[in-house]
Amino acid sequence: MTITQDILYVGVNDHNIDLFEGQYIVPNGMAYNSYAIVDEKIAIMDSVDAAFGDEWLGNIKNALGDRKPDYLVVQHMEPDHSANIVSFVNAYPEAKVVSSAKAFVMMKNFFGDDFADKQVVVGEGDKLSLGKHELNFVAAPMVHWPEVIVTYDSTDKVLFSADGFGKFGALDVEEDWACEARRYYIGIVGKYGLPVQTLLKKAAALDIQFICPLHGPILTENLGYYINLYDTWSSYRPEEEGVMIAYTSVYGNTKKAVMELADMLKANGCPKVVVNDLAREDMAEVVEDAFRYSKLVLATTTYNGDIFPFMRHFIDAITERNYSNRTVGFIENGSWAPTATKVMKGMLEKSKNLTYAESEVKIMSALNEDSKAQLEALAKELA
Ligand code: FEO
Repeated sequence: MTITQDILYVGVNDHNIDLFEGQYIVPNGMAYNSYAIVDEKIAIMDSVDAAFGDEWLGNIKNALGDRKPDYLVVQHMEPDHSANIVSFVNAYPEAKVVSSAKAFVMMKNFFGDDFADKQVVVGEGDKLSLGKHELNFVAAPMVHWPEVIVTYDSTDKVLFSADGFGKFGALDVEEDWACEARRYYIGIVGKYGLPVQTLLKKAAALDIQFICPLHGPILTENLGYYINLYDTWSSYRPEEEGVMIAYTSVYGNTKKAVMELADMLKANGCPKVVVNDLAREDMAEVVEDAFRYSKLVLATTTYNGDIFPFMRHFIDAITERNYSNRTVGFIENGSWAPTATKVMKGMLEKSKNLTYAESEVKIMSALNEDSKAQLEALAKELA
């Protein structure tokens, strides 16, 4: 695949993976992107996952023919991109390794070798000329690890954005960008909104025609759409008006209340209502929805003096990603001493700028006239 006349795709698709980063299901696989910039000197941008070293080196050979790379630029040391640095160095012993000082420390930790005789240490504002192409390095700490740099090719106006603007899914599968990019971003980079905002501000000063991330498709058109979504996600603003109801239900009574609330919200004109069963839906998808919509309802049972485990896991997952700037409503169920709302509010204490709905719903085992009236009040308030 040719991106510009001089920039070629040499990455790989992974359809064998079961869980990306040990926890995310990826039904459409994963792409580990790598690029060759072919000029008087040749730079390879990042390596790929451990399982694809031979395929990646084969792609480089096919792309370059008789020529050999002069540089391997390592933007990010997470093993999905760094696992084949050693194979590259063995295949091309004359090449230099270009990376941040922190990344070389990580190489020593990962591989027992920081390639001292091949190091080119770069940081914010440093440049590397390949001939016609000039690579400009931009520090991007915590997007998504501390050593990360991104690279701007000022000749072809390409931003190599590391994990930024990445998504789940291999490149040989057609699917909506935003859905899997949002799940990827919120799940993996979501905690680091502030560093992403810093990087977006730096990127705003550049004339960017192409974004080449380490995962997902190369972005070539309508870049404002993608950049605006990243700005929304990284500033923790809701993307859409709507209510997401996240629930757990042991015998179906809490579920019944949730379904009634969903109907009431729609009847009251709520623009969008999404219902997620925390025990059965992909947790990353539900976490993504929590950040997507402006309002959240948490419905769960009191359990072992605490709350049902899937709800605890869910609230932990959103608070560790800085869930904030939203309205939250509560439904609790308990057969003798419901305390779930108190526990949930306690867990949300570290979240900033949350507004709690005044109408709360307390179910004593099953819905009755009182709790139905509370549901109606909550629906009216949220809609
Ligand atoms: Fe795609 Fe943070 O690694």
